[in-house]
Amino acid sequence: MSRGIFITFEGNDGSGKTTQILLLSEYLKQKGLEVVTLREPGGTTIGEKIREILLDNRNRGMSPVAEMLLYAASRAQLVSEVIKPELEKNRAVICDRFVDSSLAYQGVGRGLGVNNVWVVNRQAVDDCLPDITFFMDLDADASMARRIAKGEEADRIESEKMDFHRRVYSGYLELSRRYPDRIKRIDVNRSPQEVFAEIRGYVDEFLEKAER
Ligand code: TYD
Repeated sequence: MSRGIFITFEGNDGSGKTTQILLLSEYLKQKGLEVVTLREPGGTTIGEKIREILLDNRNRGMSPVAEMLLYAASRAQLVSEVIKPELEKNRAVICDRFVDSSLAYQGVGRGLGVNNVWVVNRQAVDDCLPDITFFMDLDADASMARRIAKGEEADRIESEKMDFHRRVYSGYLELSRRYPDRIKRIDVNRSPQEVFAEIRGYVDEFLEKAER
């Protein structure tokens, strides 16, 4: 393989990404791959500082464009400082959210437009698109119910109105239709083991093709 594998997880908050990332990371390690797991926004010293600004509930006055640029700034740093170098070393990079989050949350949720958000993010991503993206399909209402059940405090984005979260979800659905080869829609209304079996199938298929 000339380059490692780059996998991202997407979906509304509370859609079970964390559990699946852990399972996938263990699975790939067992297969002998070196695995790097990251999260967005963040994953670098600079990115974690940007994350604090983005999620801080005191920053309610942030303009949608400023928000889009900050997410893109964190991403640009993560791509150049970590993702590209790790892929060049043939590592498996798993990222909790990536550019599709900006397309869904800022492009559709905030209404900036998917194409406008992509134009800015193209520079941040710098040709480093994921090989596979798992869209953890849990609609906005179910995702809100899960978050409330967990009793976690809501950050600035999570505190948005239900309409915002519904738009985000419709954005993800649209993206998964637009890029069916890259974005795999995963029904998460099943046990974590069943969800993981499907994810593992897609990853195995990709690795087999890459070895040929
Ligand atoms: P986080 O606590 O990491 O959420 P989760 O655990 O659900 O991934 O917070 C990230 C928040 O930022 C989340 O609400 C989604 C949002 N977000 C965007 O709006 N745009 C983006 O480009 C990214 C990466 C995240």
